[in-house]
Amino acid sequence: AVKFALLALMLLSLAVAAVGCGGKEAPKEPAKETGKQDVAKTKLVVGADATFAPFEFTDPATGKYTGFDVELIQAICEEAGYELDFRSMGFDGLIAALQTNQIDAVISGMTITEDRKKIVNFSEPYYKSGLVVAVQEKNNQIKNFDELQGKKIAVQSGTTGALHAEKATSKDKITYFTSSDQAMLELKNGAVDAVVMDYPVTAYFIQQGNKDVKMVGEILSAEEYGIAVPKEKTETLEKINTALKTLKENGKYGEIYKKWFGEEPK
Ligand code: ARG
Repeated sequence: AVKFALLALMLLSLAVAAVGCGGKEAPKEPAKETGKQDVAKTKLVVGADATFAPFEFTDPATGKYTGFDVELIQAICEEAGYELDFRSMGFDGLIAALQTNQIDAVISGMTITEDRKKIVNFSEPYYKSGLVVAVQEKNNQIKNFDELQGKKIAVQSGTTGALHAEKATSKDKITYFTSSDQAMLELKNGAVDAVVMDYPVTAYFIQQGNKDVKMVGEILSAEEYGIAVPKEKTETLEKINTALKTLKENGKYGEIYKKWFGEEPK
């Protein structure tokens, strides 16, 4: 009886295999309809912390991810022939996610820094940025970065803004948040005296109707954003760079830039 059962099982698996092969041969439904060939695109899993308007955030009207970075990576994927799989996660976990191959790339307003370059590779820069100090509109005390000593500061964990704040005041005066929105809310609520954050994000936040917040002093550091890729994924990096170059040359990059920042690329 055992032998018979085994034989039956073998026949069954043969039958399943045969059906499997036949299935592969038959054209898929959409391909039949359009008459086009069904070329499977390589997936590119891209991570970002989507709390960083106007670079990556959730559009309140549609519930979808949007922003300069989102549109840029969509255009890059289209150009390079990738199928984009965009995922949002905490900013301070993005590099670890790259290193453990959970994601293939990061586009998240991420500044190209020497420290990060030791563990990941960056594409050519795609945006010139810098940090700024934000305080409440009614604050007349803090006029620049040097006046932050001893003051309470909110920052986003793992950012260059956090590193800068640590230069200005002791760590016990700094509150670290997972999202940049939370840091800004803390300032609005008056729980901290200042926020150190990327200039374009702070400017956008104020412009979006948060007139109780203002920027003071100079733009602190010259930073450039790049797309981060694991060290070993050299082919991915090459494809991204080639696509970025094409988009800069054919005007598509300029178009997206103008849409989000209202001016020509710097
Ligand atoms: N440019 C800063 C950095 O690289 C902040 C980036 C934060 N990005 C974000 N999507 N929350 O550290």
